[in-house]
Amino acid sequence: MSRRILVTSALPYANGHIHLGHLVEYLQTDMWVRFQKLRGNRCVYICADDTHGTAIMIRARQEGRPEAELIADMRDAHLRDFTAFGIEFDNYGSTNSESTRQWCHRVWKSLREAGLIVEKDVTQLYDPEAQTFLADRFVKGTCPKCQSPDQYGDSCDKCGCTYSPAELINPKSTLSGATPEIRTAAHLFVALEQKHAFLNEWSQSGKHLQSEVANYLKGHFLGEELRDWDISRPAPYFGFEIPDSPGNYWYVWFDAPIGYIGSTADWCERVGENVEEIWSAQPEVNWEIHHFIGKDITYFHTLFWPAMLQTAGLRLPEKVHIHGFLTVDGEKMSKSKGTFVMASTYAKHLDPAYLRYYYASKLGSRLDDLDLNLDEFITKVNSDLVGKVVNLASRTAKFVQGTGLSAQYPDDGGLFAQAASEAEAIANDYENCDFSAAMRRIMAIADRANRYIEDNAPWTLKKDPAQATRLQDVCTVGLNLFRQIAVYLAPVLPKLAEQTGRLLNAPIDNWNHSQQPLIGTAVAAFEHMLKRVEPTQVQAMIDEGKQDAPTSEAAPAALPADSGKYLEQEPLTAEHCTIDDFVKVDLRVARVLACQEVKESNKLLQLTLSLGGDQTRNVFAGIKGVYKPEDLVGQLVIMCANLAPRKMKFGLSEGMVLAAGAGGQEIFVLRADDGAQPGMRVH
Ligand code: MSP
Ligand code: ZN
Repeated sequence: MSRRILVTSALPYANGHIHLGHLVEYLQTDMWVRFQKLRGNRCVYICADDTHGTAIMIRARQEGRPEAELIADMRDAHLRDFTAFGIEFDNYGSTNSESTRQWCHRVWKSLREAGLIVEKDVTQLYDPEAQTFLADRFVKGTCPKCQSPDQYGDSCDKCGCTYSPAELINPKSTLSGATPEIRTAAHLFVALEQKHAFLNEWSQSGKHLQSEVANYLKGHFLGEELRDWDISRPAPYFGFEIPDSPGNYWYVWFDAPIGYIGSTADWCERVGENVEEIWSAQPEVNWEIHHFIGKDITYFHTLFWPAMLQTAGLRLPEKVHIHGFLTVDGEKMSKSKGTFVMASTYAKHLDPAYLRYYYASKLGSRLDDLDLNLDEFITKVNSDLVGKVVNLASRTAKFVQGTGLSAQYPDDGGLFAQAASEAEAIANDYENCDFSAAMRRIMAIADRANRYIEDNAPWTLKKDPAQATRLQDVCTVGLNLFRQIAVYLAPVLPKLAEQTGRLLNAPIDNWNHSQQPLIGTAVAAFEHMLKRVEPTQVQAMIDEGKQDAPTSEAAPAALPADSGKYLEQEPLTAEHCTIDDFVKVDLRVARVLACQEVKESNKLLQLTLSLGGDQTRNVFAGIKGVYKPEDLVGQLVIMCANLAPRKMKFGLSEGMVLAAGAGGQEIFVLRADDGAQPGMRVH
């Protein structure tokens, strides 16, 4: 009987773009899902954007637009990137959805009823200007131990000591620069210790976790009392308000994993399935849940999440598959080296199929970091994919385009049968996420096939009309061995499998297609399959990578140590502006048509700007007292023309005039030289 499998990847944060590190996870999961589907299992791939938390709230504020707009844009960008890499979800939801909210209510109710929620006061730094509590990463100051300036609120980069943000000398909020105050607020906690026995049993059963993960949990958490988990945040917070605790919101890590269920519920709604069958703990219904995650979020998925599920009477994961982090040329991804490459940047320069194969060839079932070595990347793609695989087809297909394949499968010295007999071993490797072992087996098959082609040299047979039948036979063998390889590689290279299906007029949609050779069928014209990688393309990507925005991403060298509390997982906001960010700003030359003082304000002038033709904009500028209205009328200024319109007390502001200077009396409005035309774009 076929299995029913629900698969998830971690939900990417909506405050950053997908980069090559993320792709280690999404590509690996996609390959595993495609493998399961190819095997004939019912497999559903669920994901969503993780949309809540302080970082997103702050970013939306900085961009002067509602969170909903920001997360909608991010979702589009994420889906574009995933699609470019052939990552196919059955459902891509959002944690900011009605379904996720409802499931949060349900899980919360169970936690309450089980007596797991306790209230305790938490003292935190508060930014009086930004009016928000500050996660440790949003505070910087001087290290209390070694006096190094500019250290984050939880630990010092220089001497490595950890402290509470209140101990920092001269602390400043990184949001506003204000000096934070110490404030106390009541938070809700999950008393995790009550789940200790269950977590011990579940995590140490040997069934659900890689052994190194089970050992890590035993060594770092389960050996002592489990600390209470802080699960609420006071307003303002972008998230769901806790129904029985008004003014408090669920911490993003409460609703994020519940987003797996919310997104499943949306999928069920769409296709007419029953979400209860999948997620309720009903042993009589056979659904397996598999989570794929990176090692940095281990304890959320192996402690908190199972505890929540079990308390709520929901199905526990069959397996949590945890992978290591990406390094590039042996080092942490780095913006200055250009190795912090966004998925979209990669896709501009290189075929995503290359990365799918390269990652597969490097991914094992353990938690080791995965190194993207750029020279090896080029060699592997060119020698394996182009040299060994595609070459099999390109050196044979053209000779049988007219005749098609032989009517009987020729004697191939046992090559096809040998490769067919490896189907189960390869399938096992895929099942265990030992993708690199699978790739090695497949390449060994390709080596044997290539030797056969070289020994039988169809290009020589072609020259002798008397050898026409042998030529057809040799190509029939070559193409069948090629097709077998395409079946085995289909989870990794779905496009190649499609092209092979078209070439041989037999779509590849089942693993068992590796077991029977094709005979007597027509062969279509050979279409180009994969180009060689040129080192210049890789270099171009790296050059552009230097301009990609960094995220807060830091690759931990090992599983995160328990630093005395559960880490805040909220990343920082980006500090750099990429060229892509920059070109989004639509700067234009504008002529000041009219200008007047805003009576009720001691700062603002109201300007009417012309962008050429009959396009005008109403803009408020804080330059009253520095410029007289009549100084400006008729002048050519520079404006940002695509700033989201902002409603102000005095009317709608539809843009911004650029000026230099620190403010106060020191303001210099930027102007364009005569000759520039209103509406011209500024570069
Ligand atoms: N939003 C959380 C996950 C919530 S799941 C209920 C999150 N988001 S993330 O965008 O930071 O990361 C998404 C996934 O990508 C995580 O599993 C993370 O481990 C993985 N990776 C992010 N950077 C990575 C590398 N540099 N290398 C490998 N995987 C990486 O965490
Ligand atoms: Zn220090």
